[in-house]
Amino acid sequence: MSVRIAPSVLSADLSRLAEQVAAAAEGGADWIHVDVMDGHFVPNLTFGAPVIRALRKVTDLPLDVHLMVERPEQYIEEFAELGAAVFTFHPEATVHVQRQLAQVREHGMLAGLALNPATPLGRIEEVTDDLDLVLVMSVNPGYGGQSYIPHATDKIARVRALLERRGSAAVLEVDGGITTATIGEAWRAGARAFVAGTAVFGEPDPAAAVRALRAQCMERA
Ligand code: DX5
Ligand code: ZN
Repeated sequence: MSVRIAPSVLSADLSRLAEQVAAAAEGGADWIHVDVMDGHFVPNLTFGAPVIRALRKVTDLPLDVHLMVERPEQYIEEFAELGAAVFTFHPEATVHVQRQLAQVREHGMLAGLALNPATPLGRIEEVTDDLDLVLVMSVNPGYGGQSYIPHATDKIARVRALLERRGSAAVLEVDGGITTATIGEAWRAGARAFVAGTAVFGEPDPAAAVRALRAQCMERA
């Protein structure tokens, strides 16, 4: 099964965004992860449509957009038009989760749900058939550079079992504190897409950092 590495531009040097994304691509990055935060769902404020538009111009890689915002449905149409490939939101941020997932698919994007560390699997169990991706948060969202919460490994394994039980081909992605030291356990537990901010853009050579992360998965395949 394939491995996707999704460098998060939250940790990039934004004054050199195009160059940083090109370096990640050269290292074999599969997706570019874009953390949209609104200062309400999480305390931090980051990017919106203008940055997605700018990224779309400088890379052909699919944009993996992670919305940490209240009422994510406000952005489905706009982000689809801007060329986002994945649209992942948090179930606590909206009322009609199944309807929003269906709308994301109708707009031609992969529909993802993110589970915070304290969010139970029940939130995805009822909508498994509407999901293209499950994002297990291995930190509480809001900031880059936090440490991987060890309990996430067990959660990844439980999500993997749930997806298999339901015959779902949804991508299982993990986000937060992914480094060469933690990616292996997430891989063994069943994650197949890996967001990494600090571990890629905090390194002097982002291309080598992407390769090093992937190697940790391959070694354990
Ligand atoms: C956290 C974000 C992450 C963040 C990960 O709220 O959702 O995508 O960029 O950063 P690192 O890899 O540094 O933990
Ligand atoms: Zn993220």
